[in-house]
Amino acid sequence: MNIILLGPPGSGKGTQAKMIADKYSVRHISTGDILRENVRNNTPLGVEAKKFMDAGQLVPDSLLIDIVKDRLAKPDVQGGYMLDGYPRTIPQAEALDKILPSLKQKIDVVLNIDVPDNELVRRLSGRRMCKCGRSYHVAFNPPKVEGKCDECGGDLYHRDDDKEAAILNRLEVYKQQTQPLIDYFNKQGIIANINGAAEIPKIFEEISATLNKF
Ligand code: AP5
Ligand code: MG
Repeated sequence: MNIILLGPPGSGKGTQAKMIADKYSVRHISTGDILRENVRNNTPLGVEAKKFMDAGQLVPDSLLIDIVKDRLAKPDVQGGYMLDGYPRTIPQAEALDKILPSLKQKIDVVLNIDVPDNELVRRLSGRRMCKCGRSYHVAFNPPKVEGKCDECGGDLYHRDDDKEAAILNRLEVYKQQTQPLIDYFNKQGIIANINGAAEIPKIFEEISATLNKF
């Protein structure tokens, strides 16, 4: 089963992705995590991407399309995957539509997670991340031991783009460039709308009910 997770910054894509990956044995491919790893390792891609990410802007399409093309061809994702954070623009979606047939793949469902703006700001400003990709919230979803990841014991950090100015930019960029994808996938008849304003387990129940149909 191949899934796309669509939703604004802070809608819970990463949080739900961890749970979906465990239950349905699909690989979690987060373009944000891939870019952050490149930033940490100071690769040429990371140096280029950091300028855009810190400002809450999108990294240029051409870079992302190449990353995803390479990743989807790897053996470990052939049993099923979940794209988290890609596509984010119409040109990225069109590129994916070209890549998939050449790999004999298709997307089964797009989970569109909807959350009101004021809730997104509350979630992002209190978020703490681990470099393994897991995210926490100081109030809504705290780790068992303060500052440490439950899963790998790594130190939690505050993302540079979770500062207020960057958060507001990211929400605007989402509306301008990513929201049009809802229509794009609606036309393909593969969208499932998920109410992302509920508690984490409740959202996962709704997602599971959708995925169980596949
Ligand atoms: P990316 O890492 O993809 O960030 P994003 O889309 O902005 O989404 P987030 O990771 O911020 O939110 P999330 O939906 O995963 O929420 P989470 O589960 O963590 O991208 C970062 C940047 O990389 C982009 O801005 C761009 O520059 C670049 N980039 C990446 N992909 C790109 C692409 N394709 N093209 C161009 N550029 C690209 O949850 C958020 C918080 O809320 C956490 O604290 C969590 O604990 C809490 N929480 C989760 N669910 C709930 C709930 N139900 N109730 C209460 N709290 C909750
Ligand atoms: Mg995320």
